[in-house]
Amino acid sequence: AVDSTIRFIRYYWIARGQPQRDQFISIEQGYHGSSTVGAGLTALPNFHAGFGIPFDWQHKIPSPYPYRNPVGEDAASIIEASLAALRAKVEAIGPDRVAAFYAEPIQGSGGVIVPPKGWLQAMRDLCRELDILFVADEVITGFGRTGPLFACSEEEIVPDFMTTAKGLTSGYVPMGAVFMADHVYQVIADGAGASAVGHGYTYSAHPVSAAVGLEVLRLYENGLLENGVKAGARLMAGLEALRDHPLVGDVRGRGMLAALELVSSKTTKTPLPAEAQPARRIFDRAWDNGLVIRAFANGVLGYAPPLCCTDQDIDAILERTVKTLDQTLEDPDVRKALKD
Ligand SMILES: Cc1ncc(COP(=O)(O)O)c(C=O)c1O
Repeated sequence: AVDSTIRFIRYYWIARGQPQRDQFISIEQGYHGSSTVGAGLTALPNFHAGFGIPFDWQHKIPSPYPYRNPVGEDAASIIEASLAALRAKVEAIGPDRVAAFYAEPIQGSGGVIVPPKGWLQAMRDLCRELDILFVADEVITGFGRTGPLFACSEEEIVPDFMTTAKGLTSGYVPMGAVFMADHVYQVIADGAGASAVGHGYTYSAHPVSAAVGLEVLRLYENGLLENGVKAGARLMAGLEALRDHPLVGDVRGRGMLAALELVSSKTTKTPLPAEAQPARRIFDRAWDNGLVIRAFANGVLGYAPPLCCTDQDIDAILERTVKTLDQTLEDPDVRKALKD
C-alpha cells in the first residue's frame, strides 16, 4: 500500500505539470514498512543501516513523542513545534519540490507514540496550505484499532491518501489497500486519459482476501467495533491505574492500541538498564504469564489485543501485566538501577 501511494503521488504531480515535486517527508520513529521505498520513509535505524537508505528524496521531521519531547508535554507546544518543523523542512527542500507528507495517527512500531489531540488535524491543514499531499498511514490504526473505523475520523480529517492492511482482513489473510481522495483520483484519471495507469500486482484484489475482507467488514459493523470501544476503555482505564507502579513512567494509547513505558526513574525518565533486556526478558516473562505483548528494546510494552476481547479477557491482560511488572521489579539489575 505504501509503495502504491508513492507511485500514485508521483503520477499525480506529473499529471499536474509539476514533475519536480518528487521529495517526500515522514516522521522520526515512524514506520511505513520494509519494502525498498517504504523502508526509506520508515525512520527506525535498523531498517536503514546496511541497506543504503533512506534515499536522498526521503526526509524526516522530529516525532511529536509527548513523553520525551524537548518542548515538554504541553499539547499546544508540541503541535506548534511539529508545524514549525514541517514548515522549515519544506522551506529547506524547496516549497515547489515537496510531493507529500506521511504520518501515522499513532506511531505504532516506533513505540506506540500518541500525538496530542489536534495534532493530526493541524498537520493535515498545514499540508493543504503548503499544497502538499497528506498521507495517513492507517495500517495499524485502521479498522477499529483506536475505536472508530479509521483514526482520521476522530479528528474529522480527510487525508489525500490512506494506507491500510492488517485490520482490513483482521490479519487472517494478507491484503493491503490504498484509499485516495476523489480530487486526487480525478487528476490521475484525467492525466491518463485513454491510456491505462500501469499499476497492479500479481495478487491485486485477490478473491480469497477480498472475501475475507468483506466478511470482516460485516463483523466490524455488526458489533465488533462497538465491542472494541468498550474493551478499549476498560484496557486504558486499567493501564492508567498502573501509573503508580514504580517501573511505569508513561501510560498512553487510544482504544485497543496502548503502551506502558518503563523507566528506572520517573523524575529523570531514565530508561531501564540495557541488562534488563526488555525485548527479550520482559517479553519472555510476559509470554510465560500468558500475556502476548510487543516488548520494545527501550522498555516500551505495546498492547494491541483483538477487538473481540471480553471484560474477563481485558482483566486477565491487566492482571498478567501487574504480575510481569512485579517480577521485573525483583530483578537484581532493575532493583539496582531504580533511582526513586
Ligand atoms: C504503519 C505501518 N505502515 C505500513 C506497514 C507495512 O509494513 P510491511 O512492509 O511489514 O508490510 C506497517 C507494518 O507493521 C505499519 O505498521
